[in-house]
Amino acid sequence: MNINAVILAAGLGTRMKSSIPKVLHPLLGKPIISHIIKTIEGIDRISKRIVVISKHTESVRNVLSGKEIVFAMQTDLLGTADALKDGLKSSDSNFEHILVLAGDAPLVTQTTINTLIDTHIKGKNDITIQSFVAPDPTSYGRIGKDERGKVIAIIEEKDADENQREIQEVNSGIYLFSAMAISYLSDITVNQLKGEYYLTDIVSICHQKGLKVEAVCSDTMDEFIGINSRFDLLTAQKALQWRINLYWMENGVTLMDIDSIMIEPDVKIGSDTTIFPNVILQAGTVIGRHCVICPNTRIINSVIKDKAIIKDSSFIEDSSVESEASIGPFSHIRPNSKIGQNARIGNFVELKNTIIGNNTKASHLSYLGDAELGNDINIGAGTITCNYDGVNKFKTTIKDGVFIGSDTQIVAPVTINENSFVAAGSTITKDIPSGSLAISRVKQTNLEGWAKKRIPHLIKDKPKDK
Ligand code: UD1
Ligand code: CA
Repeated sequence: MNINAVILAAGLGTRMKSSIPKVLHPLLGKPIISHIIKTIEGIDRISKRIVVISKHTESVRNVLSGKEIVFAMQTDLLGTADALKDGLKSSDSNFEHILVLAGDAPLVTQTTINTLIDTHIKGKNDITIQSFVAPDPTSYGRIGKDERGKVIAIIEEKDADENQREIQEVNSGIYLFSAMAISYLSDITVNQLKGEYYLTDIVSICHQKGLKVEAVCSDTMDEFIGINSRFDLLTAQKALQWRINLYWMENGVTLMDIDSIMIEPDVKIGSDTTIFPNVILQAGTVIGRHCVICPNTRIINSVIKDKAIIKDSSFIEDSSVESEASIGPFSHIRPNSKIGQNARIGNFVELKNTIIGNNTKASHLSYLGDAELGNDINIGAGTITCNYDGVNKFKTTIKDGVFIGSDTQIVAPVTINENSFVAAGSTITKDIPSGSLAISRVKQTNLEGWAKKRIPHLIKDKPKDK
């Protein structure tokens, strides 16, 4: 069996009112079209995948580069039938069936496509349409049937009369065609209302020729949401969010909310992890088991190991957090940071390109950039690495067991060796040998009676003891 898939993605997507091609708008972090490509990549029976693009959607090529895809060009946007015709110019010469998918309907699953293919082959159909029941069928083509329930046509919204508009079974834009059905593509005439060649017109043509047409109807619509507008995009996002969130709940993850938690498709989460509302986990993130991810946290492309806790309102990007570490609340972990086991990064601490060893703690109000910290270090509140001189970045090295007093500035490049101490309020500009105390603040002077001289009317003498 030789099935070629043609994905139609040449359209302008005018209803999105966007300068970006519709199929490249992100849906939970991935372009709309990438979702559908990923789905059909997993279906072995499809021997060739053709994506129809146009000069308006040329950038789709770059987004899908590296995939096993053939691109076909539609020169004039003359409708879905014309797009398919252009796509077929790149098909295998000996194809037996053509699976057509719309690039703007990204949520269809492999199971559904496989069932559609099975029905088509088993029933020896010429056209098998994936239809669904839409509570609001506006903007979808309606499935027209005769009194015996046989599919006779697909009627587009603009061409439908009042009765036909009531039909709730609609066309998903996903169909299989036999080579015989495809041969009638050229019989489609231009639709007078829209000036386009409607692929859907092939249904009535094939029916009239006595070919076998069947619709496989789904009673749920989530898989078939076609994205024409920003509202459709949100509807599809919500449907995908629910699908992903339900999957993780079924796999042992506790979600404290299903609507506000956004987990992108390429994320992994271990069992017994708990996720609070308003958490966003983005592509490439891997969360271990028994972790807690507190509200308002966003994690991008990072690894969080078992039993780590990410407290409220933290942002972690391209970094890793070892087991039992604690981050936040209000931490900013910038790219290339590694946080060791049982380490603690507390509130208003920012890390960038920084390694934090095991059991090391930076609990309050610090910036550590381009730094390498060993194990068992205590970083006092307000410690700042001065890593940038306006031109170059410099490294700070802090070895095991060091204690940095509060409000210290460390002017890089500098190395603070094992088990040394830095007194609070110091500005460190030189390496510190191991086991030393470094102190670099001005000695305190108290000028007694100074205040009274300066502002006598405000400073009253203490009453004499009786
Ligand atoms: C289409 C179907 C409708 C179905 C709906 C499902 C037709 C005439 N109508 O309507 O029955 O219910 O999808 O979502 O087919 N495209 C091209 N070249 C073109 C025109 C469109 O490649 O010249 C592509 C678009 O980029 C899009 C897909 O075909 O990915 C569907 O086109 P669109 O204009 O969105 O059709 P709908 O009005 O949604
Ligand atoms: Ca559409």
